[in-house]
Amino acid sequence: MSRLRVGVLVSGRGSNLQALIEAAKDPLYPARVVIVCANRDCAALELAKKAGVSRQLFRLAAFPDRLARDQAMVKTMRLHGVELVVCAGYDAILERTFTREFAGRIINIHPSLLPEFAGTMDAVTMALEAGVAETGCTVHVVTKDVDQGPILAQRRVEVRPDDTVESLRERIQAEEHALLPVVVKRLAGQPLPISL
Ligand code: GRF
Repeated sequence: MSRLRVGVLVSGRGSNLQALIEAAKDPLYPARVVIVCANRDCAALELAKKAGVSRQLFRLAAFPDRLARDQAMVKTMRLHGVELVVCAGYDAILERTFTREFAGRIINIHPSLLPEFAGTMDAVTMALEAGVAETGCTVHVVTKDVDQGPILAQRRVEVRPDDTVESLRERIQAEEHALLPVVVKRLAGQPLPISL
């Protein structure tokens, strides 16, 4: 079985990366993480190292500008034969050069029921402050417009009266960890790129 080659972009804790790595431990899982790219030193890079996955740091300061940084990431993804890019807690906006190169092959996981609370790094706090009865998480296709690409899947999470940002985030993330591997599996079984 040839498995879909996945490149993961990270900036933080890496729990979604971990969920993908765990799923791919099953030899029948149709995808595997071949490269992890980070824009800062983060726990996710450490996770990749422990799992024996290739990883590379693309600190902005090491490049003349964002364009050069993203061009270098494209090159690395290409070198690793990446067929699908997963943004798993990646906190920078991808340059057009990247979204064009991998059009229909980039997905992101966002901690809200898009289109609600789009375009923010703090969707969980915003949901809590807005007093909504439910929120959740969304996996969507990444296009040049932040958090606007076609929605692939969502999971709902009830907001409880005693929720704090932490407790709500924890329940949303539990759903993310279940959802992301399911979506990647689905994409591995269909032709890529996803038509936009
Ligand atoms: C996730 O909640 C995801 O929705 C958001 O960033 C967070 C990343 O968490 N885009 P982790 O690094 O995967 O633990």
